[in-house]
Amino acid sequence: MSKIIFISNRLPITLSLSEDNIEIKESIGGLATGLKGYHQDSNNLWLGWAGVTKEEAQGREEEITQRLIKEHRCIPLFLSEEDLELYYQGFSNSTLWPLFHYFPNLTTYDEAEWQRYKLVNEKFLLGLKGMVDPGDSIWIHDYQLMLLPHLIREEYPHAALGFFLHIPFPSYELFRLLPWRDQVLEGLLGADLIGFHTYDYARHFLSSVRRIMGYEQEMNVIKHHRRSIRTDVFPMGIDYEYFTRNRQDVQHDMVELLEKTQGTQVIFSVDRLDYTKGIPGRILAYAQFLKDNPEYREKVTLILIVAPSRTQVDLYSDLLREIQELVSGTNGQYGTLGWIPIWYFYRSFSQDSLIAIYKITDAMLVTPLRDGMNLVAKEFIASRTDKQGMLVISETAGASSELGEAVVVNSNNLIETANGIKEALDMTKREQIERNTIMHNRLKRYNIYYWAKDFLDKLLQQHSKWEETQVMRFDNRGMKNLLADYKKAKSRLIFLDYDGTLMGFKPKPDMAFPDEDLLKLLKKLKSDPRNHLVIISGRDKDTLEKWLGELEVDLVASHGLWVKEQPSAHWEQTEVLDNSWKDEIRPLLEVTMDRTPGSLVEEKEFSLAWHYRKCEPELAQIRLRELTDTLLSLTGKGHLGLLDGNKVLEIKDTTVNKGRTAGHFIATKKADFVFAAGDDTTDEDLFSIIDENQYSFKIGQGETKARFYIRDCDEFRSLLTKLSEK
Ligand code: UDP
Ligand code: G6P
Repeated sequence: MSKIIFISNRLPITLSLSEDNIEIKESIGGLATGLKGYHQDSNNLWLGWAGVTKEEAQGREEEITQRLIKEHRCIPLFLSEEDLELYYQGFSNSTLWPLFHYFPNLTTYDEAEWQRYKLVNEKFLLGLKGMVDPGDSIWIHDYQLMLLPHLIREEYPHAALGFFLHIPFPSYELFRLLPWRDQVLEGLLGADLIGFHTYDYARHFLSSVRRIMGYEQEMNVIKHHRRSIRTDVFPMGIDYEYFTRNRQDVQHDMVELLEKTQGTQVIFSVDRLDYTKGIPGRILAYAQFLKDNPEYREKVTLILIVAPSRTQVDLYSDLLREIQELVSGTNGQYGTLGWIPIWYFYRSFSQDSLIAIYKITDAMLVTPLRDGMNLVAKEFIASRTDKQGMLVISETAGASSELGEAVVVNSNNLIETANGIKEALDMTKREQIERNTIMHNRLKRYNIYYWAKDFLDKLLQQHSKWEETQVMRFDNRGMKNLLADYKKAKSRLIFLDYDGTLMGFKPKPDMAFPDEDLLKLLKKLKSDPRNHLVIISGRDKDTLEKWLGELEVDLVASHGLWVKEQPSAHWEQTEVLDNSWKDEIRPLLEVTMDRTPGSLVEEKEFSLAWHYRKCEPELAQIRLRELTDTLLSLTGKGHLGLLDGNKVLEIKDTTVNKGRTAGHFIATKKADFVFAAGDDTTDEDLFSIIDENQYSFKIGQGETKARFYIRDCDEFRSLLTKLSEK
């Protein structure tokens, strides 16, 4: 039976080792707490770090691994102390975490940490060894493992591979600051499906992929080489039923605390120690509330739980000090002999204990400066089966987009947050119940099981689409057949497109002249008397003559309008065309060029082209749409056609096309082996006339009529080299 393999930096359980004992505790943090229920109820596996280093394990790795697999279906990775310092505290939590949470001023960039991040991602790949069976799905989680999808894709090309980011994906303006941004995006694009908590994060990601990598997108699908990668929004849910049940396992000190708060209204706040959570601002807002509303003094208590987290990172220990000072400052200023305004705990509590507090809370404060989702907010609402108590949430918590019935505040606005506390405490029971009921129903429906199923179903759908296109992949078997057919053929007709097929794209069209290696390769192919080479291009005849004339092969220019067939040294025109339409269209293209920096207009003999390769991609897409609409209304059903090519829109007379001209060669040469390669929409006319038993190749991504895909020009050149050596 196929299984799901979860992979995350931290396992849902954390170990502490003593000489004769292995203590196992539940991990905290949204990823682990959220998914643990789903994992427990399945027979899947989870690979990750169990909180114990290689040095601490002291040779007990095998014993620990066996126990964790047997009892928890978890496979522990033993990272070294240096890994933790450079990969975990370093790149993950001093670079990615602050940058992705919009703290560029707290972000550090360190080459050694980046190198270790790469290395540890590779260690996770090694950790998978022997675990993946055909049909398994692999689901990678979070920012610590953003290179892993690509690494796994290389090793297990057929696996269904999903990635979910539990933190925000920042806007392009921030993401671009990352020195290793290309590698990180490329790493993620190994997945079939990439999930985010909110629409904004998905949008930011797509925009970064478009602007940095230049990959084409259709809605939320990225075209990348032969594959398409889907991005989608899956707001993570909670184990709703778990939080609605009455819990027994409440810690002793918590029971005592609950008794002590009787008689006051309870305000509750619980987070991991983290500067993204806005804890100092929350304390200040509470102090402001006490200042502005003296009638509440001695009548409210703030229970403030801060769960230790990442304390080895300096920023976190500084934050701890700041929180402690603010707590004692507030207690010192407003406390009385019989009343402590803030009950502060710097330790973690079990979820059962948290539920016990949620149940008596009047105002729940969840006011992060930035948070991917924030499950605490959802847990609080679910625990309140009486639908009472009110959540105050900041708009920068991912969860706020689903919890709009709560009191929503801007956590940078102290007064607004203080007023939010008052609004929540003063709200009538009736209004609380009304608002909470709506949020309850939402959480009940889209719970953690639904969330995981939704993601995994979409992953399989996306993956099966990819599998279908695999028939097109030119693999080793295809290569073997090609070489055999090539070898046994007595006469061969070989059509080669130029730009994007033989030559990679250059910033300007006139820079794509052939290099020495290419000329040598074409000469070698031509030297075989059985080969008949035709370079078939959209370029004008003068350029082809200048660049390739010396080869003495057949040349087809302007998409088939001009032909130079050996041994003749003359160019022949295949059609007589009227060019008067250009005067009407040219000014339109020129205006578009002026309004779109980086674009240029090219005039060819019987076509006009607007190139936008060097433009800002989003602007180019808008202009492309505008231009296409206008041109379509002008050209109507006439003989002019629009060709949406590789970063170029071409307007040309459609009476001429590559297929028509190539048809003439096929009919006259009568070769027993036909081969055609191209990368662009204009090459589709060529592919459509190639017999399905013959060989047609599309270079790059996108829909095609060709029989096979080839990744890029380099891969195609090595294929030609192999043929030339036969
Ligand atoms: N949590 C816990 N004990 C604590 C503090 C927090 O079990 O003392 C749990 C909490 O119930 C929630 C998770 O840790 O499930 C925190 O997730 P959240 O999404 O709110 O924030 P994150 O820590 O992931 O940034
Ligand atoms: C957030 C992150 C998780 C992480 C958790 C706890 O929820 O999204 O990936 O596991 O915080 O942080 P820690 O560094 O202790 O694993």
